[in-house]
Amino acid sequence: MLIAPSILNADNLSLGEKIKKATDAGITRFHIDIMDGHFVPNLSFGPELVSDFKREFPMIDAEIHLMSDNPKLLVPAFVKAGADLVELHYEAMDEGKLNYWLDYLNSNSVKAVLVLNPDTPISVLEKFAPKINQVLLMTVYPGFGGQKFLQESVSRIKEARQLLDQINPKIPIEVDGGIDGETAKIAKDAGAEIFVAGSYIFRNGSISEQINKLNEIIK
Ligand code: DX5
Ligand code: ZN
Repeated sequence: MLIAPSILNADNLSLGEKIKKATDAGITRFHIDIMDGHFVPNLSFGPELVSDFKREFPMIDAEIHLMSDNPKLLVPAFVKAGADLVELHYEAMDEGKLNYWLDYLNSNSVKAVLVLNPDTPISVLEKFAPKINQVLLMTVYPGFGGQKFLQESVSRIKEARQLLDQINPKIPIEVDGGIDGETAKIAKDAGAEIFVAGSYIFRNGSISEQINKLNEIIK
């Protein structure tokens, strides 16, 4: 079980301080949301943020959630910036391109993750499973932090876990969107092992207290 805090909704002007507080509370991976204003109707960070992050926190993993339909421009840029994992949306490109970029990540020793939006069939995981290290199931429609967890995600997590158990039981399922004390427990019981949480950690008072609470819930 792992918590990957999303820094999207952390105060951007004191990001370094906020990240430090989370690492002091035991966090070993951050979820960095990249939004291109086209695949999703919002903008966030660029590769500079990731290279600054890796310079300051070299031992901490940068998980790049790429919400963009321009992989050609962005995947190499984030790999160069030091991404440890890159998460590609199934909906953002055709299957030929997806195969190409998953191969690219594998050959650059960057962990490859396939992301599915809430309305994408779980069955698409089957053909990409040999090329991925992790699956990310969106539990909200991507674009903004602070949204409500979609309850229909529960059966999707179960379905994905069942499918992956047949193909490769080692591939973990991560969930992203609306994760709090209550929904983390629900997602965990359904088969999730990695929990992205933004607002719950960074917009609720003490960062370390929120991390400790979530750790208790998912352990
Ligand atoms: C949504 C992003 C999420 C988001 C999570 O598009 O992918 O990572 O920042 O934020 P919360 O936990 O507030 O839903
Ligand atoms: Zn995300």
